[in-house]
Amino acid sequence: MSSNLKFLLATDSQLGMADNFISRIDRKEFAYKWIKNSDNENNIGLDKELENLRKIISIANNLKPDFFIITGDMIDNIQDDNIIKKFRLELNKLNNEIDLFLVPGNHDVGENPLVPSSSAIKKYKTFFGNDYYSFEKKGVLFIVINSSLYMNPSVLESRFLQQNEFLKDLLKSYDSNIPIIFFTHHPPYLGEVINIDFDSDSQKESEGYWEFPKITREILFEIIEEKNVLAFLTGHLHQNKNVKFNNVDIIVTSSLGLPLGSDPSGYRIVELNEGVLHHSFYTL
Ligand SMILES: [Fe+2]
Repeated sequence: MSSNLKFLLATDSQLGMADNFISRIDRKEFAYKWIKNSDNENNIGLDKELENLRKIISIANNLKPDFFIITGDMIDNIQDDNIIKKFRLELNKLNNEIDLFLVPGNHDVGENPLVPSSSAIKKYKTFFGNDYYSFEKKGVLFIVINSSLYMNPSVLESRFLQQNEFLKDLLKSYDSNIPIIFFTHHPPYLGEVINIDFDSDSQKESEGYWEFPKITREILFEIIEEKNVLAFLTGHLHQNKNVKFNNVDIIVTSSLGLPLGSDPSGYRIVELNEGVLHHSFYTL
């Protein structure tokens, strides 16, 4: 039976994003506002992102959770080896008794964040590990999937199908009572158009950018239909959101890096007691 499981979740550390915004005339002011909220008024984008990464690692080291997971967009640009190294260097400071799990975000598996690519996934595997896998803790099954393949199933169709086969095979060996939690970067469902603060022109329709397209959401929910899936824990929005779809909680956490809505940078502590999920968001 599942009992007293506690884990720490952060998402979208997205090292490099703030400086990317600073380099763009229409987004500069937006990024500056966040940086100036920092303890150190002089730090530029990457310094602030690294500062937040250090904070969460020290929170993890003090909290000693069953594991620490980052639900994607560890970095802003998968082609920037220097930033990937900086990310790994910081993560090395995590107490080695705490298991670390990473989830691929759209910025981690595509040179163009709208399009996953084989070359970026290959690089992801070298630096961050598998893009889809599962693990068990205290009687709970946790599943990490590469949601960029669900956002855009036609570009890497064989990998999309492979991942679905992996899921079906995995779930076959679990009965319908075992609690299951999914970690994905993109929320499978939001049910509303998401507005972001930095400029009105770039607001994107909910379908096709912020949540799974209906067709792949249906494929996924058909695969998990008979199972005891408690929740999907995701990132991608850079703001908090809780919705339900088919009785499954979809819990989106604000970013560790630059937020895009009204929620500050933060993290989530999730506890599972006797199969019941409790979770709270904390400001960093
Ligand atoms: Fe992101």
